[in-house]
Amino acid sequence: TGVKGEVEFHNVSFSYEEDGNTVRDVNLHVKAGQTAALVGPTGAGKTTMINLLSRFYERDSGLILIDGGDIANVKKESLRKHMGFVLQDSFLFRGTVRENIRYGRLEASDDEVVEAAKLANAHSFIMKLPQRYETVLSQDGNGISQGQKQLLSIARAFLANPGILILDEATSSIDTVTELKIQDALQELMKGRTSFVIAHRLNTIQKADKIFVLEEGRIIEEGTNDSLLEQEGFYYRLHG
Ligand code: GTP
Ligand code: MG
Repeated sequence: TGVKGEVEFHNVSFSYEEDGNTVRDVNLHVKAGQTAALVGPTGAGKTTMINLLSRFYERDSGLILIDGGDIANVKKESLRKHMGFVLQDSFLFRGTVRENIRYGRLEASDDEVVEAAKLANAHSFIMKLPQRYETVLSQDGNGISQGQKQLLSIARAFLANPGILILDEATSSIDTVTELKIQDALQELMKGRTSFVIAHRLNTIQKADKIFVLEEGRIIEEGTNDSLLEQEGFYYRLHG
């Protein structure tokens, strides 16, 4: 995969506009292969943290390191090659299912695409599409469900085999059967990779190696589910 996936934030601050900091003096350490859950109320800065890690925005101050190296010194394209994204609004483009899974990785063979789709629990629904892997999807994925879009982005991530995974859990309702397929595939995908999960499901949060509780751009608590409950602080009031 190219990176071990240790991630550190040192005194990272950022604001989208001149006024007010959106992320304030954030320190965070996630070891290679661990799962980190980001939790906190709307507007707390969860997505912004991910935007900074993947350099969709540049931090104003502080340091962000991957495997000890400053990400500011890495080309954005090479940085993102080491990252897989499974987001609420899965990114599809106009093209076949096969092209959407391959996503620019021209070196991947047809067999590898199918293999990735099988790992993602996407193969069976793809085989029911009119042209199977050759079915053309529109940019907004007309004709497939929200959950199926997610399965496709999971297949894409399996094929890309990144060291770091970014997951933004869906809040919208997805049918139970597809939801189970997604959970099952994600669990497999996360194995051995550093994962940042913007977590909404209690189950995901509880299983994380480290939970970071954000409020107004600051990490106000961190720990495991057990240690945070013991603290009887903000997290306890949310989930206790
Ligand atoms: P939810 O996704 O709603 O749970 O919130 P979040 O924790 O992901 O918060 P996010 O990081 O999106 O936002 C943190 C703060 O930055 C909020 O006050 C947002 O209004 C603000 N913000 C987010 N995106 C932008 C942007 O593109 N431009 C500007 N100016 N502000 C933004
Ligand atoms: Mg968000």
